[in-house]
Amino acid sequence: MNEETCPVCPEGNVARTDATGRAEMVPELLAWTSSLAHDRSLVREDLLGSAAHVTMLHQVGLLETADAQALRGALFAMFDEATAGTLVLADGEEDVHMAIEARLTRELGQVGKRLHAARSRNDQVALALRIHVRDQAARTLAEVSNLLTELAERATMERDVVLPAYTHRQRAQPITAGFLVAAWANQMMRAAQAVSVALDRANESPLGCGACSGTSLPIDRDVVAAMLQFNGTTSNALDTIGDRDFVLDWTWAGARVLLALARLATDVIDFTTSEFAFLKIGDAIAAGSSMMPQKKNPDVFELVRSKASRGVGNLTSMLVLVKGLPTGYARDLQDDRQAVLDTGPLVRGALRAVRGAMIHLAFDAERCLRAVSDGSTQATDVAEALVRKGLPFREAYKATGQLVHLARERGIDLATLPLADARTVHDAFDAAVLAVLDPRVAVAAKKSAGGTAPERVDEQIGNVRAVAYELSEKIQNVPQLEELRRSLASVSI
Ligand code: ARG
Repeated sequence: MNEETCPVCPEGNVARTDATGRAEMVPELLAWTSSLAHDRSLVREDLLGSAAHVTMLHQVGLLETADAQALRGALFAMFDEATAGTLVLADGEEDVHMAIEARLTRELGQVGKRLHAARSRNDQVALALRIHVRDQAARTLAEVSNLLTELAERATMERDVVLPAYTHRQRAQPITAGFLVAAWANQMMRAAQAVSVALDRANESPLGCGACSGTSLPIDRDVVAAMLQFNGTTSNALDTIGDRDFVLDWTWAGARVLLALARLATDVIDFTTSEFAFLKIGDAIAAGSSMMPQKKNPDVFELVRSKASRGVGNLTSMLVLVKGLPTGYARDLQDDRQAVLDTGPLVRGALRAVRGAMIHLAFDAERCLRAVSDGSTQATDVAEALVRKGLPFREAYKATGQLVHLARERGIDLATLPLADARTVHDAFDAAVLAVLDPRVAVAAKKSAGGTAPERVDEQIGNVRAVAYELSEKIQNVPQLEELRRSLASVSI
């Protein structure tokens, strides 16, 4: 948004109603302080919150039945218009909450003025944000679950492709591509846990906290919480209205998912270079160069990395926004909107991009195997074979080091060093020990828990599938906005 002029009310014609009690504020400043440009994206969440509030006011005797019916009808109608994309909140207002109230008052007259009893915009905005974060977190978990399922499939498919693992970006030890894909999935599962925590933390109703200390009106916060399918209510009004920890959790979780994707993306970007050439990039996802006809670029994965930067930016802006605020509400909190609203679509877009692009990547099994065929990456396996024969590890390490040195001196691969020469270094070397120079043998022997042996990778894949399933189960309990609207509308009054 252009911060100099407000696009929703360029002439500065904001807050024409006296509902906020500041009709005399300088119009340009009023326009500049408006959050409507951003929080109009939260209109459906806000309308659902208001529908629950009205229903509760009626249940506790603060609203006549006819008034409650009129208000609910108007709120649901606006929700449906918002869903269809036809809702017009044309009047310049300070924020979406005032815009809705202004419209209700225009439509319903005096009845519209009854809506805001026992509530403040401070708890109202917290409510809209919490519904938004819960919904976005659930949708994100659905995408993560899909990606994990895809990664599990892929890991199974690639369980026999052998390639080097890297430490310090230097060839280290042979692994399978299935094991690498399972590693990507593990990082994603931890990120999913952060999303799951963010969902749970957002899942408490703040409504009824009022401006900062509760209300003297006989409201029932639990009724609102139950209608909006929250797990419970927040416990201290003053804390609640200035609390954006659930937004910190959400932007942190979003950044975690994006970081997991970014690291996967870097592997892909590296492995599709002609220097590595472990992965072939399909034409369907390769971008060209406007000048260099030979180029097949992994732009999708580079953009995944850049989205991660934006995700970290969202988290950082929230951390800095909250830092140093006094207890209670401060208008600074209004500027949480960009970071919150950006995070969900940003994260899900990147998740979908990676899932869609992955199927157009093919491991070059032969090239991968060749990268570990000279035997050098199996030096540790040779040393461990000596340990199995009873040598102390340090002695085995030294003997194998001498073997590596000898092969280098002779200008041959470790894998082709004759047994007789090996025995001049140490008489513990025999055919069985040198057999582990075959990378496939070395991989098969890594049977320790969490290792790269195929049966271990199968266990890891099983775990990935289980987590994908758990995530998809968890989100069954989170209502989508449309479902919430239906269940709220079915509450008879
Ligand atoms: N527009 C504000 C926001 O989005 C809500 C209004 C807060 N309350 C107030 N008295 N200014 O956070």
